[in-house]
Amino acid sequence: MEQLKRLKVKDLLKMNAGEDILAKGWVRTKRGNKQVKFIALNDGSTVNSIQVVMDTEKFEDELIKKITTGASLSIKGKLVESIGGGQKVEIQAEEVELLGECDPMRFPLQKKDTSLEYLRTVAHMRLRTNTFGAILRLRHSMAFAIHKFFNERSFVYLHTPIITESDAEGAGDMFQVTTLDLNDIPKRKGKVDHSGDFFGKKTNLTVSGQLEGELGATAVGEIYTFGPTFRAENSNTPRHLAEFWMIEPEMAFYDVNDTMDVAEDFVKYLVQYALDNCQEDLQFLNDKYDNSLLERLNSVLGIKFERLTYTRGIEILEEAIKNGHKFEYPVYWGADLQSEHERYLVETHFQKPVILTDYPKEIKAFYMKQNDDGKTVRGLDVLFPKIGEIIGGSEREASLEKLESRIKELEMSRKNLEWYIDTRRFGTVPHSGFGLGFERLLLFVTGMSNIRDVIPFPRTPKNAEF
Ligand code: 4AD
Ligand code: MG
Repeated sequence: MEQLKRLKVKDLLKMNAGEDILAKGWVRTKRGNKQVKFIALNDGSTVNSIQVVMDTEKFEDELIKKITTGASLSIKGKLVESIGGGQKVEIQAEEVELLGECDPMRFPLQKKDTSLEYLRTVAHMRLRTNTFGAILRLRHSMAFAIHKFFNERSFVYLHTPIITESDAEGAGDMFQVTTLDLNDIPKRKGKVDHSGDFFGKKTNLTVSGQLEGELGATAVGEIYTFGPTFRAENSNTPRHLAEFWMIEPEMAFYDVNDTMDVAEDFVKYLVQYALDNCQEDLQFLNDKYDNSLLERLNSVLGIKFERLTYTRGIEILEEAIKNGHKFEYPVYWGADLQSEHERYLVETHFQKPVILTDYPKEIKAFYMKQNDDGKTVRGLDVLFPKIGEIIGGSEREASLEKLESRIKELEMSRKNLEWYIDTRRFGTVPHSGFGLGFERLLLFVTGMSNIRDVIPFPRTPKNAEF
């Protein structure tokens, strides 16, 4: 039995009885009586644990006592048919090595309270729970499926900078990056002097890779980025993080309609991938947290998303108010839609995902293609049940003159933007793109209701543990 290779629980559970095996993992539970102990062993490869049966007379009392929830074990034994229970096989233990003890008085997951709120207070340990195991595996699968989707369509994965001089969204919610001594900030004419700073200029963490993405798309045609994104907006909501991951495809020669097609295919592909490949984890989350999860995932697949203009969306919301529906935030043409408005359109009115287009230019970024009406731009938002905005994007303004005049109108500094404006100067083309918030996608796919629970190490205002 010496030469056994360790097998993962996920694979052990699929094997037939009869084999000698080696398994390693953590104890989820221990129960039993004087003669026999049943241990649920989990190694994170699947939400399911494998049952280990220990005949107490074969093992030291001292060892058995130390096998507590959270302890880590290495087990050699025989796979035998499981009588009763949901599993085909279990392990009849022959040798048990205690790799690491786990003091039941101090282990934070020992408590009866397994609420998501409690788990956030022991965030360094919460990854060991079945819930976070399922979420981590789903995160991985979705990241893999994203690369697969774009690879199948010959998009190039473009690595855009994390430290940048640009403010892509023009919103100003940025974390600055500096090596200046904050206790003794050099100044010139009353302003911070960045000449002695690491990069010799003011830099920040990226709020979007889009502008650099446009450089890539106007070179190799179709690109996507997938990286961390930082926003210092002080919004303490269940849908905002200060550090999140965004996927930003950018496509030359695509108009806004082509882009809506990609966006719709993309999210459907990801949901289908999860249903096809993550059945156990989805079933677990469905049963434990949200018994309409699987139904909701399936519901977005077979249908075409509803496409309408922002203006039509506002009309529908105004009609709803006339019919007695109450919103917290006001509804009028020109207002930025709140999540409650988006969710009304999706969940109540259309009862399916919605793509809104042609927003007022005042509430959208400078780079969006201007419509002939002079009032709206060719932006698009994909709105999802339970979440609201999951994707934001647009056709880009390809005309040099129109882009320049918008930059001027908004009194933006051109200093850091000449490289971007060059895309319109030299061989400009119609092009479009969008950004999918990775954690917003995961909210939808996992059915979790707080974005802090779909990222292993959340960063939110006043919270940057680890
Ligand atoms: O709508 P946004 O701000 O669009 C952009 O950044 C564009 N540059 C995208 C593009 O056209 N290439 O952000 C895109 C998506 C949102 O729809 C949302 O899903 C997510 O990113 N997002 C956030 N997710 C978590 N926390 C935040 N603070 C987020 N801000 C945006
Ligand atoms: Mg947006």
